Amino acid sequence: MEAKRGQVQGRTVPGTVPGEAPGTAPGMASAAAPGEATGAGVPVPDLSVQIGPLRLKAPVMPASGCFNVGQEVAHLFDLSCMGAVINKTVMPTPRPGNPPHRVLERSAGLINSIGIPGKGPEYFLQHQLPFMRSAGTRVIVSIGGLSETDFVALIALMDAQEGIDALELDLSCPNHAESVPFALSARATGSLLRAVRGVTRLPLIAKLSPNVSDIVAVAAAAMEAGADALCVANTYPAMGIDLEERRPVLGIQTGGLSGPAIKPMTLRLVWQIVGELDAPVIACGGVTRWQDAVEYLLAGARAVQVGTANFTNPRAIPEIIDGVRAYLERHGFTRVTDIIGAAHPRRT
Ligand SMILES: Cc1cc2nc3c(=O)[nH]c(=O)nc-3n(C[C@H](O)[C@H](O)[C@H](O)COP(=O)(O)O)c2cc1C
Repeated sequence: MEAKRGQVQGRTVPGTVPGEAPGTAPGMASAAAPGEATGAGVPVPDLSVQIGPLRLKAPVMPASGCFNVGQEVAHLFDLSCMGAVINKTVMPTPRPGNPPHRVLERSAGLINSIGIPGKGPEYFLQHQLPFMRSAGTRVIVSIGGLSETDFVALIALMDAQEGIDALELDLSCPNHAESVPFALSARATGSLLRAVRGVTRLPLIAKLSPNVSDIVAVAAAAMEAGADALCVANTYPAMGIDLEERRPVLGIQTGGLSGPAIKPMTLRLVWQIVGELDAPVIACGGVTRWQDAVEYLLAGARAVQVGTANFTNPRAIPEIIDGVRAYLERHGFTRVTDIIGAAHPRRT
């Protein structure tokens, strides 16, 4: 498919979380509201960002599948500091996931082939969505499926619920034993987005795969067919071999690599998309420290997701938000938007 580069624009319908000032992040180090002076006389930077129609109070949120919905860490930090809360991808029916082993730790990062186990949409609506709504921030629901029909049905179901701010479409899980990810093809991605766009007015975030030769073509196809934003990206195909057993460690042999090792590669994908399309990008890949988040923002991402880092440091997200704020203060920036794309030749 021939993608029309440089022509895609996310729609902008500003939204705010009711009853809160943009950029406030309760529970964080700075007590002053954005724009107010801190004790040192330096204004508190405004961390709010616009992702297509969606306004977030901070540019940092969890990555799907690496945070559950936050119940386990709610005693460790105030979840309302995050830009959004996201669930592990809900599939149309309950699933056991892949056979063990499903996770493998390597010095380069984590390789998983979890296979999206879950208790299905009814359980999600009854037991997880209410908690997400109570988190005091934007609610992004991640959904998946093996066919366009799956996605249409799940989106219609989510559209009928109260308190969902956006849907993230997992088009890129490399670990379904049953199907090929939509995001491996620009045509399949465009077709899926066209099929679902009319089903909901909720903002749609298309989560792409890094495992393609032309990420811009897939990104353009998603945006042209009605996505409001892109999440870039999922894990990289990988595997490990058990030396004693002389066979692959993972139950389905291969999985997806995540963690610090993938950040430079995903950074390049973000850079390429931002360089060629006017598409709001949420970066996802190897964000472990605040420096990683700043790097992605400088490359043009409007926000970042934190995945694998949560497993080793459950307070990674608030620490990254504090670090981004401190970086802005140190450099005299009053808004996080001042640094978005600042390293990109397109901006300078
Ligand atoms: C254990 C595990 C489970 C995951 N489950 C999902 C999932 O359900 N849906 C999804 O879209 N991505 C899932 N991912 C991918 C992450 O959301 C993210 O795209 C990827 O891990 C890269 O980010 P990271 O390097 O910060 O972990 C999973 C990743 C891991 C490590």
